[in-house]
Amino acid sequence: MKILRHPDVMRAWSLGQRADGKTIGLVPTMGALHAGHIALVEASLAQCTATVVSIFVNPAQFAPHEDYDQYPRTFESDCRILEDLGVHAIYAPTPNTMYPKDYATYVEVEGLQDGLCGLTRPHFFRGVATVVTKLFNAVQPDTAYFGEKDGQQAAILRRMTRDLNFGIDIVTLPTVREPDGLALSSRNQYLSAAERAEGLAISRALNEARIDLEGGERDAQNLVSGVRDTIARLDIDYVALVDARDLHPVERIEGPIMLAVAARAGATRLIDNLQFDPALSNPTKAPTQEADAAQT
Ligand code: PAJ
Repeated sequence: MKILRHPDVMRAWSLGQRADGKTIGLVPTMGALHAGHIALVEASLAQCTATVVSIFVNPAQFAPHEDYDQYPRTFESDCRILEDLGVHAIYAPTPNTMYPKDYATYVEVEGLQDGLCGLTRPHFFRGVATVVTKLFNAVQPDTAYFGEKDGQQAAILRRMTRDLNFGIDIVTLPTVREPDGLALSSRNQYLSAAERAEGLAISRALNEARIDLEGGERDAQNLVSGVRDTIARLDIDYVALVDARDLHPVERIEGPIMLAVAARAGATRLIDNLQFDPALSNPTKAPTQEADAAQT
């Protein structure tokens, strides 16, 4: 497994792979790998003949008051995990290589970046769209893999890829959860036991909404109120039901939607969502212990 640190070296490696007839999959991450990241890596390994995982804690997507310095960095153990999985290359540029002192160019996806997480983190999606553009240019993948867990991010990157004609297939994969329902996140390690228990209300609320949707509930306000009631003990940032493609608020559910939540347990901001398409009636599962027990 190669560890590549400079965009020119990364691009040369990818061009070599392509000349050998390989198809290249990219899994962008900020490291501190967990089973959610690994599911994306395994999909790339199954579908592409060369897999690159990028590990870069991107300063452009953190505001000055956010957790850039504290963000978990576990580069050596991440490398061991990826080597064991059979990943072909890690792209791990330094902040100075990515953003030299006179760096001036940013990518913005208008409209989609403004609501939901964009309301309280106005810097965030411009940082994400910019870094993913730079990763795409360095790695030149055929396919890139993202998690539904960050539903707004996935919608924005899908639109950016289309608008800027990257010619890269964007694959999104379902959220990986703890057995009790908590969505895996590198930030879960900030949670105390009591905060973690409170945070579980989010997946429980989404699971209740899923049951209501499958039972035929189509009124957005009813679903949003139900989620708000279940997570009332948390400090709610937003609960929103939006069109899954353009992220506009929806009143009656007639096409694919995302029911998205952001809330704080203590100082830790947790996000989660449920995707549902009435045509398929096959939403992302947000299981809880109770639901699992009921099924067995
Ligand atoms: P990071 O939080 O490290 O996540 C990397 C990828 O893993 C993202 O596509 C994210 O949606 C996915 N992911 C995280 N938790 C998941 C879970 N529980 N189940 C499935 N997938 C999950 O998202 C970022 O990094 C950054 O914003 C990045 C895109 C790398 C740009 O800096």
